[in-house]
Parts: sequence; structure tokens; C-alpha cells
Amino acid sequence: MGEPLRAAIRGTGSYAPSKVMTNADFEKFIDTSDEWIVQRTGIRQRRVMGEGETTSSMALAAAKAALADANLEAKDLDLIVCATVTGDMPFPATACFVQQGLGITDIPVFDLSAACSGFLYALSVGSQFIQAGTYRKVLVIGVDALSRYCDYTDRGSCILFGDGAGAVVLEPTSEDKGVLYSVLRAEGAGWDYINLPGGGTRYPTSAQTIADRLHYVKMKGRDVYKFAVEKMQWLLGDCMAKCGLTVETVDMVVPHQVNLRIIDSAAGKYGFPMEKIYINIDRYGNTSAASIPLALDEARRAGLIGPGSTIVMVAFGAGLTWAGAVVRL
Ligand code: UT7
Repeated sequence: MGEPLRAAIRGTGSYAPSKVMTNADFEKFIDTSDEWIVQRTGIRQRRVMGEGETTSSMALAAAKAALADANLEAKDLDLIVCATVTGDMPFPATACFVQQGLGITDIPVFDLSAACSGFLYALSVGSQFIQAGTYRKVLVIGVDALSRYCDYTDRGSCILFGDGAGAVVLEPTSEDKGVLYSVLRAEGAGWDYINLPGGGTRYPTSAQTIADRLHYVKMKGRDVYKFAVEKMQWLLGDCMAKCGLTVETVDMVVPHQVNLRIIDSAAGKYGFPMEKIYINIDRYGNTSAASIPLALDEARRAGLIGPGSTIVMVAFGAGLTWAGAVVRL
């Protein structure tokens, strides 16, 4: 028997649309201010898809960047898992459009829906296939385009979201690195904290659902806030305890970029210095499933983390769902 297999991250990539929407842009059509948004969320601007861009076009760009970083070609892939709640269409899976865009065929590809926790859910799924020895090269994508589903008359939610994509390529390793731990949780009873009710089988699209604005995100901001703080604190503690880590031995926390105050209170509980928390919410807002892989890719490319770095990733989102992972690069 050799060493047990783990899924190592061989490459990362990300994409954000070039179109920028600043807080000042929101001041033009809703009763808000740059000061309020910065103080309450930490967001200064977000990227939004331009005309012709789609969820799959963003995912494809991130996938190509991750493959190039991994020094691999698309034909080397054995599996694509795409985490998104804002796919190109209700079906087929956005992963199918990505596969087509990569010009490959005859491998399994599918989408996974866990909202802002989606990337960590997908990372865990991809990692299991590698540990089981079923597949060797797995592309895991987190992508969302919430700008297309924001209610731009609801100042309590529309200012939060941006669009983007991030991806990683996994491969087996028997070294002391890769996905060391992952934890996934959900609480379906909290489905009404944040959702997009219209267009599914519960509220099929009709003139009435559109008049009622059910095709836009609905969110109970305060309830989500409290739940997020509690779960992010729990996730950080669980990830560190399960892997025998301390604030000193964690090189970087890459949290879901959800709200600077939520991140501060979760990290503050354990006394993490701010330089060990990767933050880019000021530039991208909350990009849902893209948030963690986009941050991970940026931190790597900026040289803040690299081979040997131990990283804790924590996320929380609609479902309700929450998830964590410990990865050594
Ligand atoms: O991946 C999960 C995605 N969801 C989240 O991350 C949401 C988590 N929740 C939050 O981030 C925060 O709850 C918000 C940023 C959404 C709101 O911040 P808050 O400090 O919880 O504010 P609040 O909802 O308690 O509202 C305080 C006041 C209200 O006015 P009144 O009733 O006190 O007069 C709101 O109407 O702030 C008002 N308000 C705004 N004012 C200016 C709400 N949104 C805005 C806004 N600009 N954009």
C-alpha cells in the first residue's frame, strides 16, 4: 500500500468582467450612499457582466486560466464540476457549455447548487473522486452572475453582489499537501433567508410572478448576517481543530467575501491578524460561488501564498449552506 491519495491544487485561474459598478453609480437610482455601503459592507465597487457575457463565458475564461497555470490542456481533464446558482439556462448544466467551449467531449460534467458555499462543496466533490481513484484531473469551477438577478429597486440587497468566476485544477498527490479536510453542512429550514423564488416549479414564470418581482433575489439581510457570523466562527474553529492548526500555523484564511463586518467578527474571535485574512470584497462585492476561488487565485498570483502554505477557506450561503476546507498548496 502506498500513501493515501489526496487532491492537490495544480493550478488556479479566475475571471472578472471589465465593467465596473461603483457605489456612486447606485446613488443615482436608489436611496443610498458610498459612505453607508462602505461602512456596512466594505464594498467600494463590483464587476458586472457586459452585453454578450454569460455565466459560462466567465467560467470558461477562469477554466482556461487555471489550465494554463497547471500547464495542462483541456483534453487532459477527466471531470468538470461547476458550482453555480445563476447558470446560463435552468438546463442544461453550465458545465456543458464550459465543456463545449473547451472543445472536449466524452467526460462527465455537471453543475452543483450550494450558492455562496458552492465552490467549497464542489472542491469536496472533486477531491472525493480523486481520493477514490476514479479520476485524476478534475476541473472545479465556482461562478455566479448575480447582477442578472438583483432587484435594483431593493437597496438592502442589490448593492452587495458582483459577477465573477474562479477555477482550480485538482490532481492526485501522495505528498503532505492538497485538500487536507473539508466540512459541508446545510439547513434547509432556512431556505427563506435568501432565495430566488420565481421561475421554478413552485412559482412557474407568469405575468403575475414577474409583476411580483419573484424573478429577483429576496433576502432577509439581518437574519442572514447573524447566521453568517455564527457559522463562519464555527467553521474556522472546526477547520483548525480537525487539522490541529493554530492562528500561528495557518498561513492565510480565504473567507467568502460576504461582508467585511462578518469576516472581521469571525476572524476576530480567534485573534487572526488582518494580514492573514485575504480580502478583496472592496473591489468585487459578493460574487457568490466565485468569491473564494477568485480570492485564492489573486492571493496566489500576488505571491501572498505559495507552495507549502496552509489555507483555511470558509463560506456561507443560501440554502442555508455552509462549508469549510483546509488546503496546503
Ligand atoms: O451570501 C449571502 C449574501 N447575503 C449577505 O451577505 C447578507 C448579510 N447581511 C448584511 O450584509 C447586512 O445585513 C446588510 C449589509 C444587508 C444590511 O446591513 P445592516 O447593518 O444589517 O442594516 P439593516 O438591514 O439593519 O438596516 C439598517 C438601516 C435600515 O434603515 P432604518 O430602517 O434603520 O431606517 C435600512 O433600510 O439601513 C437601511 N439600508 C440602507 N441605507 C442606505 C439598507 N440598505 C441600505 C442601503 N443604503 N443600501
